[in-house]
Amino acid sequence: MLELYLDSVDLAQIARFNRCLPIKGITTNPSILAAAGVGLPELLPALTEILGANARIHVQVVSQSAEEMLAEAERIAALPYDLVIKVPATETGLTAIRAMKAENLTVLATAIYSAHQGFLAALSGADYLAPYVNRIDTMGGDGVAVVADLQLLLDRQGLGSKILPASFKNTQQVLDVLKSGVAALTLPVDVAAQMFAHPAVQPAVDKFTQDWQRAFGDKLAYE
Ligand code: G3P
Repeated sequence: MLELYLDSVDLAQIARFNRCLPIKGITTNPSILAAAGVGLPELLPALTEILGANARIHVQVVSQSAEEMLAEAERIAALPYDLVIKVPATETGLTAIRAMKAENLTVLATAIYSAHQGFLAALSGADYLAPYVNRIDTMGGDGVAVVADLQLLLDRQGLGSKILPASFKNTQQVLDVLKSGVAALTLPVDVAAQMFAHPAVQPAVDKFTQDWQRAFGDKLAYE
């Protein structure tokens, strides 16, 4: 089944969506953590409380050299949680990813803006690849096409990396990447909410309630 993540550290929203959807875990990045003003020592126990001990949390290294990224990743991976190490898919990052994979760490290559960049990250051994769909669109590119091309390359070349598309601003982008058969997905909470929010739904539900109550009052369906 698709691995569904929320791209958020908003605990109330995570609890909300965890009640109605099979949330696999959370993706974070340095900007998300900085905006929330929260660090891992505080965040990880709070997420586990909501999502359970099996939740998978993606955490990005902030070191600048490959050696420092590896050392940082080792410290993150030693924490008692199911943690995926996020590494920017730069030349330095791919160097670090190869070293991390030699130590069997689970790694996501992030900040992917093209299929060829993602393909190199897959060759380097990344377990997950995160193309930034909306950011590509915003730059005049086609984020959905990048995801489709990358999935095709992985399939044709027999590479096992999972695409975990990130950066969405609307539901159409989400629908379109799902058509490529991606194995994972991370949604901002506002886009996840939009996926429920067709304007015709609530009026339809309200009409059922009115029709029922007019005929049967407070009776329930089995009565
Ligand atoms: O982790 C990457 C993702 O959060 C980027 O999303 O909305 O900043 O483009 P956004």
